[in-house]
Amino acid sequence: MAAAGEERIEAPVTTKAYAMCAFSAFAGLLFGYDTGYISSVLGMEQFKKAYGSPETGDTYTVAQKSLIVAILSCGTFVGALLSGALADWVGRRTIIITGCFIFIAGVVVQTTTITVRALVIGRLIAGLGVGFVTAVNIIYMSEIAPRRVRGSLVSCYQFAVTIGIMLASCVGFVTEKRADTGSFRIPIAIQFLWATILIAGLSFLPESPRYHVRKGQLAKAMKALARIRGQPYESPAVLDELAEIQANYAYERQQGPITWLSCFSGGILNSNSNARKIFIGISLQAFQQFTGINFIFYYNTTFFQGVGLQSAFLISLITTIVNVVSTPLAFYTIERFGRRRLLIYGGIAMSLCEFVIAVVGTVLPGSQAANYSLIVLVCLYVFFFASTWGPVAWVVIGEIFQLPIRSKGVALSTASNWFWNCIIAVLIPYIVDGPHGTGGLGVKVFFIWAFLCLACAVFAYLVIPETKGLTLEQVDRMMEECSARRSGGWLPRENWARNLGQMGQGENAGAGRMGRGPGDVSSLGTGTTAERASPDSIPMTTKSFSREAVVETSL
Ligand code: BGC
Repeated sequence: MAAAGEERIEAPVTTKAYAMCAFSAFAGLLFGYDTGYISSVLGMEQFKKAYGSPETGDTYTVAQKSLIVAILSCGTFVGALLSGALADWVGRRTIIITGCFIFIAGVVVQTTTITVRALVIGRLIAGLGVGFVTAVNIIYMSEIAPRRVRGSLVSCYQFAVTIGIMLASCVGFVTEKRADTGSFRIPIAIQFLWATILIAGLSFLPESPRYHVRKGQLAKAMKALARIRGQPYESPAVLDELAEIQANYAYERQQGPITWLSCFSGGILNSNSNARKIFIGISLQAFQQFTGINFIFYYNTTFFQGVGLQSAFLISLITTIVNVVSTPLAFYTIERFGRRRLLIYGGIAMSLCEFVIAVVGTVLPGSQAANYSLIVLVCLYVFFFASTWGPVAWVVIGEIFQLPIRSKGVALSTASNWFWNCIIAVLIPYIVDGPHGTGGLGVKVFFIWAFLCLACAVFAYLVIPETKGLTLEQVDRMMEECSARRSGGWLPRENWARNLGQMGQGENAGAGRMGRGPGDVSSLGTGTTAERASPDSIPMTTKSFSREAVVETSL
């Protein structure tokens, strides 16, 4: 049961409303499928023939392989960066839908022409669209999800990513044996379907109420929030939640206009500065890529073929299935144990798996023991990634930025994910591949991943705050009041609208103590932010934060 104070600042939610929030996770499928299909397609004989030439032994070169894979991440990097400002300007939902249309254009190019150049251009365009979709969808989901299940709902997004990767692998597995270009054209073309479903579904969902608040469109914000929570318009609970969002936004705006430059203000040592939050978001997404997960998902088929494993397609399909079935575990653990712990323990566990693969593969190269340990431990490693770093990295970047810098912060963090994704995709063939590549590191590359995963755990321990169970507005205050290591014990005391003396006096205006998890409450304290956010310091009429004022302004 939730504490009394909790109810006061978040409207109750119906099942239909949960389903609406969950649908937006479908965007993950687009992301996952698009990144996933390339692994199996690269291993297909028809593909090698179509894109290779007699001079290259009827296959693509290492440079082409690296370019084909990495160009998508270049597009997504640019798309994610551009999306930050656009999402504030025209709205979150509109940008996700626009991203889908750009993506469709990229798929058309990839499906209709067979030259490396066209494939690269098509993947670049599609990547641009995916960049829009991935960055803005995280903002959209975090802003519409009820806070007690926000972690789980945003994890559904990662779940959809994993389903996308698995579907791509299944389709590749089925079409691989075809003796025509359909073997790789079908997996590419199927992506139309995901983009179309997403466009259709999003057309029925409302815009984020927090976006409307940013734009000063209170009537629209109220209607959107009422739909998302499944409550009648003007219900006291909806109005109280809206007053809270509005009051917090007004407070944040005190710090002046938000430009790209101001996202980096305050110095990274200051626990609640913009610069610190951007640093956390960018580094967290970079570290997610340093786990080496895309070495597995981009190159596993060709890597397994390279170390002489039979049924490379089947094994890579199995890794994608493990990825899917392990992710839902995070729906529960992310709200039960919190974000921080999952990141720390996940990093350690992945590091152990990779270390053992590297040792066995190096000491007994080509042996049955090395092959078994590779297969089993890669699956175990994927299990740990999928239940920790996979979803949690996305959840955290949706939570740590306050509204004025949220879209820019999420955009930069997502762009960082794609930047490192791209760098890793470019470098891997050169580092890992044997005679054709230059590094020829083979299985020893797992030593590098093992070390980096350990670094991931240390980074999480030092830097990542615990955001579980807080509203997005409370996260902001928590980061102001305590360090990452103490954040797990921080409890919210009051809410923004109430601090300003504006919360309605109705049934929801309960005692000033609030729980962070089921049933826990803390006593009242002196809120530093609350003091600074005194009505005098806010150049808006205090009345504008009241439930009554929300109704007045909205009509
Ligand atoms: C990562 C992707 C990765 C996927 C695997 C996502 O969270 O950002 O790069 O391919 O997880 O499931």
